[in-house]
Amino acid sequence: MPENTAYSNKKIDAEAHRFEKRDMKLGTCYYPEHWPQEMWENDAARMVEIGITHVRIGEFAWSRIEPSRGDFHWNWLDKAIEILADAGLQITMCTPTATPPKWLVDVTPDMLAYTEDGQPRRFGSRRHYCFSSETYRAESRRITEAVVTRYASNPAITSWQTDNEYGCHDTVESYSPMALKAFQAWLKDKYSTIEKLNAAWGTVFWSQEYSRFDQIQFTARTVTEANPAHRLDFQRFSSDQVISFNKEQVDIIRAHTKADITHNVMGHFTAFDHYELGDDIDITTWDSYPLGFMDQEWWTEAQKLRWMRSGHPDFAAFHHDLYRACSNGRWGVMEQQPGPVNWAPNNPAPRDGMVGLWALEAAAHGAEYCSYFRWRQAPFAQEQNHAGLYDSNNNLAQGGAEAKAAHDVLDKLGELKPHQAKVALIFDYEAKWMFDIQPQGTGWHYEKLCFEFYTTLRRLGLSIDIISPHHDLTDYALAVAPSLPVIPDDLFARAKVSKTKLFFGPRSGSKTSDYQIPKQSPFEGLKHIRSESLREGAVLDVDMDEQFYRAKIWRDFVQTTQNRQAKFDDGFPAFIQTQNYDYLAAWPEPKWLRAILRSVVTELGLETVWLPKDLRLRRSDDKVFAFNYGAKDTDLSRFAKDVEFIHGSYQLAAASVAIWKDNA
Ligand code: GAL
Repeated sequence: MPENTAYSNKKIDAEAHRFEKRDMKLGTCYYPEHWPQEMWENDAARMVEIGITHVRIGEFAWSRIEPSRGDFHWNWLDKAIEILADAGLQITMCTPTATPPKWLVDVTPDMLAYTEDGQPRRFGSRRHYCFSSETYRAESRRITEAVVTRYASNPAITSWQTDNEYGCHDTVESYSPMALKAFQAWLKDKYSTIEKLNAAWGTVFWSQEYSRFDQIQFTARTVTEANPAHRLDFQRFSSDQVISFNKEQVDIIRAHTKADITHNVMGHFTAFDHYELGDDIDITTWDSYPLGFMDQEWWTEAQKLRWMRSGHPDFAAFHHDLYRACSNGRWGVMEQQPGPVNWAPNNPAPRDGMVGLWALEAAAHGAEYCSYFRWRQAPFAQEQNHAGLYDSNNNLAQGGAEAKAAHDVLDKLGELKPHQAKVALIFDYEAKWMFDIQPQGTGWHYEKLCFEFYTTLRRLGLSIDIISPHHDLTDYALAVAPSLPVIPDDLFARAKVSKTKLFFGPRSGSKTSDYQIPKQSPFEGLKHIRSESLREGAVLDVDMDEQFYRAKIWRDFVQTTQNRQAKFDDGFPAFIQTQNYDYLAAWPEPKWLRAILRSVVTELGLETVWLPKDLRLRRSDDKVFAFNYGAKDTDLSRFAKDVEFIHGSYQLAAASVAIWKDNA
């Protein structure tokens, strides 16, 4: 076949076949390079059979596309695309930059990322490149250009994915010589003079003043804690490097095609600012592995056992809401767990039903796409113990059957319009970085605090949007910041215009963006005296409305001229309500958090319920979805009266979904 004309004659209109808004499609991640060509046609036919319409390919195929420099082997990929397109599948083509091949590393060793102790990373797994390496950037542009020129005009390719999971395996930060030079230049650009940097960082402390930007090193390998503002700037710089690396690929792709561009981000991952990434792409997608994360994250042993086969009932929802916020309105799931994974400490099988439930939950939150990773389990190499929709011997696996069942429900539902939540939760990447640098207490964990707020709001039966601190507040009756160290200057003014109630948790307003303590509290009528962190097991008694509650982990001592709704034993205010804001001066135990949030949302006229631990609801325009994350049936009649079910019934079985028409 002649180069560049190797496409199927079957024309698919790219415009018409872009991800359609809110009509959620199913997809899968496929690796034609892992299988003999004789299998491809049958694979494509079976994808269609189980309701898959989208397929992602190519993200790790560099060594097959270009086995040695400039020697491009397109034929196999042309053929794979042709077969998939002939089956009517829409393709997400990826740039293969997450896996630079051996020959490239050998000729350009300065592309490698460096570990904190100054050693170059080795070839042998993936993501071994440094975002600051000019050499690698040139290679990334070159291979992107090559793949895009080859396939931009192919109508079967309806979207493009840049790279794969920026930052996976802790790869945002690199301590290479090129990264150091780039960091010094970034600092110069930010501060313009070294005096300004010294003042912002407070380098007079411990005699750390600099006289030139090129004296500044990484903070790795210092004897004890390095300057926190220096660390924060390094995190900001590293984040910016990811954004600009991505932007280079995006610009090349856009120059050739109007097809949508996406990148697949990860769960529980905060090392770069995802709001910024979302500004540069058309569809923000994320990779959802609820069981892997349940096993390896911060939850208690009891919670890990309870939800080992379902994932935490708020894990996927939290990330759907977060990444919707990190998008221009269009988002989806690029990789959905299909069965046991291989990478968590323990890798149980999902309860039968969960693989389908996760897809329907994505639809309820407004995803336009949910793609399973991966089509077929690989019989070789690192991920041979990771399930696929088919097993490695090509038998339909449990995940595949459930994908088909989810497709049948989606078919019944048709278009889903996104629901406008009344309550927003403010999530901030810089807050996370700041608290990681100086947690000031082993129990303090920013994401965990946000998650506890999110869980409580959801158990109150509310649908929640997650937003950045800079997001427009117009549609929200309430914006809850579980903790926000730097309060944007215009936040109170914006809230006033939109009549949004602002709620702040502990440590809010405690820092300037230079990582210093502000001279004045941003909260009118509130004086911060001091704060304390508490060891595990230590609790403080709180009196609110003559009920006794408890606080743990953190407490702010504040004085106020404002209305106190709760006080600690020693008389200091624990919860304050004012015209302009509410302030909670401690990390609340669940009961107290529930009482506070219930009273705040009720005052705003929002109705609440209290859902059982395993049950969650999500509104989607004129429909309500109920998800049972438990191991037993649950009865919905307390939460849904005289409703018309579109799917399911009042008796909701374990790992299943009910959907009814919202008559509210
Ligand atoms: C993701 C990654 C995939 C695969 C998968 C396994 O993080 O993007 O390539 O490794 O995990 O669960």
